[in-house]
Amino acid sequence: MPVVTVQELSKRYTPQGPLAVDGVSFAIEQGEIFSLLGPNGAGKTTTIAMLSTLLSPTAGDAWVNGHSVRAEPMEVRRSIGVVPQELALYENLSARENLRFWGEMRGLQGRALAEDIDHKLELTGLRERAGERVSTYSGGMKRRLNLAIGLLGTPPLVLLDEPTVAIDPQSRRHILDWVKSMRVSGQTVLYTTHYMEEAQELSDRIGIMDQGRLIALGTLDELVDLVGEHETLVLSLVQEEGVEELATRLAALEGVAQASASDGEVTLNALSAQRALPRALAEAGALGLVVRNIEIREPNLETVFLHLTGRALRD
Ligand SMILES: Nc1ncnc2c1ncn2[C@@H]1O[C@H](COP(=O)(O)OP(=O)(O)OP(=O)(O)O)[C@@H](O)[C@H]1O
Ligand SMILES: [Mg+2]
Repeated sequence: MPVVTVQELSKRYTPQGPLAVDGVSFAIEQGEIFSLLGPNGAGKTTTIAMLSTLLSPTAGDAWVNGHSVRAEPMEVRRSIGVVPQELALYENLSARENLRFWGEMRGLQGRALAEDIDHKLELTGLRERAGERVSTYSGGMKRRLNLAIGLLGTPPLVLLDEPTVAIDPQSRRHILDWVKSMRVSGQTVLYTTHYMEEAQELSDRIGIMDQGRLIALGTLDELVDLVGEHETLVLSLVQEEGVEELATRLAALEGVAQASASDGEVTLNALSAQRALPRALAEAGALGLVVRNIEIREPNLETVFLHLTGRALRD
């Protein structure tokens, strides 16, 4: 039996409002690292909030270790550790005090809790600063503490909601390595991110979310196969202005499946990058845009997202 089964799960925050999560179904097997990848507003946090029983579904249901989030929320909570996207820390307490407080809230106590706290401080590299107030920590240290709290008691299922947002590369490396080590300890992980590199590095399987819907699901190889025979061409431009217009023009070219603009770059999926290139350069020139760099890439999750939605995954 899967550790998590999600069936036609939906959430509407207000009666007349849009579906923040729209009929999402997936299952996660024991020991799997499963990522939900999607841009801002895709519905990742809302999905996590329903799985952790913080929010009740508008429709559908989900089961954690066979317990329904609707009917048996207490049983669900007992087997999960949650690392929320918004930091849940007491700034006036030290790391150690935060860990003790949250550990006791979760019913952990005594020597087992004390040892667990030492272990988590060691793992997160916070041991030396553990007695200092959280208000004196860097953003990356706070993120690591947030993670340590969610993992107290070594829960069989861990829900991680964008645990690496806005942190330094070193803290990110720490967190990614830690998540990978959970596979070894037999924990099951649901990880959300809008960084395709993270989903790519960590996941056994990936669900791609957009506008409340799960638009694709599979291993990295299976997802990349969705793009088919297309190649990816990325043009970096000196200017940011006019890049949208260039993407629109390139999307209309024969042999070009999609094109989208972000951060002064145009990414396009074409049957042949080599054939698309001279025409792309001509269009850029016609718009007065200067090309700074040209790259032909292997298809990746970014390309898959563009293929499925016609838009870039990046903000
Ligand atoms: N409390 C709320 N009340 C009303 N609408 C909400 C609320 N929380 C989220 N939403 C809406 O629900 C949709 C999904 O939001 P959600 O936070 O689940 O997305 P997300 O994928 O986690 O995005 P991000 O990457 O920015 O964290 C968005 O359109 C958002 O505006
Ligand atoms: Mg979110």
